[in-house]
Amino acid sequence: MTLRVVQVGAGGMGRAWLSTVAASQDVELVGIVDLDLDVARAGAELAGDPSIPVGRSLTELAAETGAQAVLDITVPVAHHPITMEALHAGLPVLGEKPAAQTVAEALSLAAAAEATGQLFMVSQSRRYNDHLVAFRQHLRDLGDLGTLSTRFAKAPHFGGFREEMDDVLLLDMAIHPFDSARYLLERDPVSVYCESYNPSWSWYRGDAAAAAVFTFEDDIRYVYDGSWCAPGAETSWNGDWRASGSAGAALWDGDHEPTSDLDGTPGSPADAPGVGAEIAGALASFVRALDAGTTPDGEVHGNVMSLAMVEAAIASTRSGTRIVIDEVLERAHASALDAERDDAARERLASWGSVRSALSATVTTAG
Ligand SMILES: NC(=O)c1ccc[n+]([C@@H]2O[C@H](COP(=O)([O-])OP(=O)(O)OC[C@H]3O[C@@H](n4cnc5c(N)ncnc54)[C@H](O)[C@@H]3O)[C@@H](O)[C@H]2O)c1
Repeated sequence: MTLRVVQVGAGGMGRAWLSTVAASQDVELVGIVDLDLDVARAGAELAGDPSIPVGRSLTELAAETGAQAVLDITVPVAHHPITMEALHAGLPVLGEKPAAQTVAEALSLAAAAEATGQLFMVSQSRRYNDHLVAFRQHLRDLGDLGTLSTRFAKAPHFGGFREEMDDVLLLDMAIHPFDSARYLLERDPVSVYCESYNPSWSWYRGDAAAAAVFTFEDDIRYVYDGSWCAPGAETSWNGDWRASGSAGAALWDGDHEPTSDLDGTPGSPADAPGVGAEIAGALASFVRALDAGTTPDGEVHGNVMSLAMVEAAIASTRSGTRIVIDEVLERAHASALDAERDDAARERLASWGSVRSALSATVTTAG
């Protein structure tokens, strides 16, 4: 049985999703929604069938086509309204990162997923990488972990919205390594000190570079040093990683097999099952979870903390102080409660004890 999906958003990343959906045996594209109908029609052609129904209203197109699930590949500002609409139409959602524009909106979506009983999974595509899974296997053999670090240096000229937005590196890119750090350490963050800045030669309006030190549970440090305007000796898109523990160190350049050195002996950890590649891996995981009724990696509750790391890093850079992640979560919870229009979702939000415990109740990890 293939899963009948409507895709919302057929822009830059939407086209990559349309190709991935076309190549998948698990799903059938039954409709495309976009505010711009020409973009939706071009998407149908790209998907190989210009007769695929297109529209501007998700609720109408989903009902007309008998859709069973929604792929949300719109811009971040639209993630909250589109996901809400889908969940309330009784449809599970696989959405592009970030879960929403703010942690408060992401909490509202987590509560709506609870209230409707529908799955909302965030596609944090860089988690679907067999080298990342292998790197975590190396980390598991390092004894007590002390430090994990990422150096990220690229110099892309994107043009468009990225060169005009605030906090471009932290908001648009750093969520990937922050999320990977949680996956690798198998722990959650406690606090962060961050300075973001814009080198004098930067072609971005907002800060294109940042240095952050996160304290994780068990007093482990995660150190991020990133720049999007760093020409010369660039790292991979995943960044250059090093982990240090009581029994040795592990290295991953982001593109090739990771390695480890257990105080003079090369590490050879146990193999772990493959997770597929990038968005194809996320799509396969979503379908498997719906089939089996299980909670996949990327389910919104488990994903919110990665967005909280971004929001806390930005708050730290603004205030010049160390920011405690629980304070970010509790503030976001208060504004989510204030802003919630949906009674059932507000009831769910109000029923949570601490936000951290509500989020961790359903956390699972892949691999
Ligand atoms: N995982 C990755 O590596 C990666 C890479 C690039 C982008 N992304 C994410 O993908 C998402 C989309 O980014 P993009 O670069 O494709 O943006 P884009 O601007 O190129 O395309 C977005 C499309 O969504 C449509 N849209 C916007 N609001 C809508 C609404 N309310 N209803 C219906 N359609 C709507 C727009 O008309 C546009 O066609 C973002 O969340 C971005 O962060 C992820």
